[in-house]
Amino acid sequence: MHRRARLDRYLKRGHRYVHGWVLPGAAKMVVAIAAVQRAQAVGGHIAEIGVHRGRLFILLYLLRRDGERALAIDLFSDQERNPEHSGHGDLDIFRANMARHADTDSLVVHEGDSTAIDGATVTRLLGGACRLFSIDGGHTPEITAHDLAVAEAALAPGGVIILDDVFNEMWPGVSEGLNRYFHARRGIVPFAIGGNKTFLCAPPFAARYIDALRPIAVKTAERDFLGARVLCCDFAPLSLAERVGRYAAWRAVKDIGPLKIARRAYHLARAAIG
Ligand SMILES: C[S@@+](CC[C@H](N)C(=O)[O-])C[C@H]1O[C@@H](n2cnc3c(N)ncnc32)[C@H](O)[C@@H]1O
Repeated sequence: MHRRARLDRYLKRGHRYVHGWVLPGAAKMVVAIAAVQRAQAVGGHIAEIGVHRGRLFILLYLLRRDGERALAIDLFSDQERNPEHSGHGDLDIFRANMARHADTDSLVVHEGDSTAIDGATVTRLLGGACRLFSIDGGHTPEITAHDLAVAEAALAPGGVIILDDVFNEMWPGVSEGLNRYFHARRGIVPFAIGGNKTFLCAPPFAARYIDALRPIAVKTAERDFLGARVLCCDFAPLSLAERVGRYAAWRAVKDIGPLKIARRAYHLARAAIG
């Protein structure tokens, strides 16, 4: 089956059969970023630290272009080195999921602790730098900061790092690790947040990614974060009030006399009902 057809099938249904943690908003953002990379001829390989059963990895793998390879890094059988129990990689299940939803022709597996590798290991295993690098392995500050250094060192020009769980209240170590990493001057900046992922790239490329992401989110806001301007993306459906508020016709009349009174009466009645 053609790669594009496999991708569509995986996005539509297949991902549901792969245990893991990827929100629909995150998947949309990754697909949009890959489209920018294709349009801008940003080349490179794919890598993920922390693949678990492959839920995000398979999506990244299906976004591969000709000649690109994909590196899966995980402790897999060595779960004693995962004291905080962030997921539980299983190489047999991962390989079976890959075979079912993609293929293994361009797959490179590195079974081991990410803290024992560096960016040079990644580029050696892949034969070049990465255009998409997901970090979702150990969730402590130390491991997060280390994995960010690995990813930045292995990043191709225009490449994007996808960091999981920065704003997940169950994993504060990731936020601390990201902040620690930015205590020193870096060659990357965050440019977007959404679907429990934080996206980073070299500053000259940030604007074109932001432009591509703005239309796909339900709600967006631009904020300052770690010295950069980031696009915050919300994929939750709008409430009825928010949907009505978006209509120009409603905004034009909502403060006119009788309507203003009717609105106030409506809100008072709602408050009274509780
Ligand atoms: C949250 S899961 C990954 C979820 C996955 N990205 C997905 O799409 O569902 C975290 C994974 O990181 C692995 N892991 C934890 N600590 C690690 C480390 N120090 N080095 C490599 N992998 C690690 C675990 O084995 C687990 O499979």
